[in-house]
Formats: sequence, C-alpha cells, structure tokens
Amino acid sequence: MAQESIKPKGKFITFEGGEGAGKTTQAKLLCDALQGAGVETLLTREPGGTFGAEAIRDLVLEGTKDRWSGMTELLLMYAARLDHVEKLIKPALERGVWVVSDRFADSSLAYQGYARGLGADKVKAVHSAVMDGFGPDLTILFDIDPILAQKRVETRGEELSRFDSESIAFHNVLRDAFLEIANDESHRIFTVDAAASRDGVHTRILYAVTQKYPELAGKLGGSA
Ligand code: TYD
Repeated sequence: MAQESIKPKGKFITFEGGEGAGKTTQAKLLCDALQGAGVETLLTREPGGTFGAEAIRDLVLEGTKDRWSGMTELLLMYAARLDHVEKLIKPALERGVWVVSDRFADSSLAYQGYARGLGADKVKAVHSAVMDGFGPDLTILFDIDPILAQKRVETRGEELSRFDSESIAFHNVLRDAFLEIANDESHRIFTVDAAASRDGVHTRILYAVTQKYPELAGKLGGSA
C-alpha cells in the first residue's frame, strides 16, 4: 500500500490583473505575512520562474508589439508555464511549501484570449491540453481603472514591455476580461480594488486568504 504523505501539500495562490495594479509589491507582502505565520512560502512570477521560462520571458516581453502572432505568444506562454509548473511549482507544493505566483494562466486567457483576440475557446483548449487539470487554489484579481494604472506604470520609470505600450482601449478590454473570468470562477477568484492604499489592499488580501484558509485566522497579522 502506498505510504501516505505526512506533511500536507502546499497551496498555490496566484495574483492577476492588468499592468500597474501593484501585484508585485502585494505578492511580497503576502509572502512575508505567511512566513510570519510559520508557513514556508515561495514567491515566483510568470512568464518566468525557472531558468528556461525566464529565457522565454525575454522573447515574449521584448521587441515590437507585433513581434509574435497571438497564437505564437500563447504557445510561448504555455511552454514557459509548463517548465515552471513541472520544475518549480509542483515540487514545492509536494514539499508543503505555499507558492505565490505573480500571474498565471488567467493572464493568458485575458491577454491572448480576449485582448489579443484569439478567443477564449482556443486558450482553454491549449490550457487543458498542457495543464492537465492543474491550477491555483486561490487567485487574487487586482482591479483598477487602466488610466490610473498607466499613471502608476509611468511614474515607476521602468522600461516599458510590449504590453505596457498597448492602448488604453486594449487595457479596458483586458480589465473587462479579467472581471468576466472572476465572475465565471467566483469560487476561486477574489477581486480587490487595487486603487486602494497599499495597506488597504494588503488587508483585503489577508481577509481573502483567511476566508479560504480559516486555520490562518489570527496568525497573519494586520487587521484581517
Ligand atoms: P511584467 O513586467 O511581469 O508585467 P506585470 O508587472 O504587469 O505583471 O510582464 C508580464 C507581461 O506579460 C504582462 O504585460 C502580461 C503578459 N502576459 C501575457 O500576455 N500572458 C500570460 O500568460 C502572462 C503570464 C503574462
């Protein structure tokens, strides 16, 4: 008979949303809070997270807007994602580590499926062929007005990626797409108002995590 694993598996939490919504800062804050509660965590990102997936990241984020067709872009994202899941995410979860990823598959559905116009059906078909049922336990969607988000991106003063330089219309489609996905997957996706203050957003995220995992209530700090 197979030996039952003694250590419980980790949880997989993803952060999603458009550009300039503050996901990266908030992902770090959540990992710190989880670690403070004695939960071993791993912070990662997409596209990227492993050596091979980071090489693919450079291919998809650099260059002109029309460097790749929508389908090529999607396949590159999924090539990166599979490497990430197989080599980093699943082994960490097996060890009992909680994994927080700055973006995952909902980004492919929103960006390539809706904003780039490939269609949700094609993205979902590739997703199920490649991911084989694997997915996040909890997703935090950062919702923000694209005009406000663009101002944040500009004040960061970083080099713009192929996606940052898209029009406000593109980012509006993206926002609606993410909200539709959140509506369809309301059991998994918790939407936060990303226009709120840094501490306000963090508090909402701790609330979402403790709703999902009541065993963490009172341990995560903050006023959640
Ligand atoms: P990044 O600089 O990490 O953006 P952000 O800080 O907003 O997360 O760049 C990632 C870009 O890749 C972002 O514009 C969204 C895009 N992307 C897709 O188009 N499809 C995907 O599946 C993923 C994971 C990201």
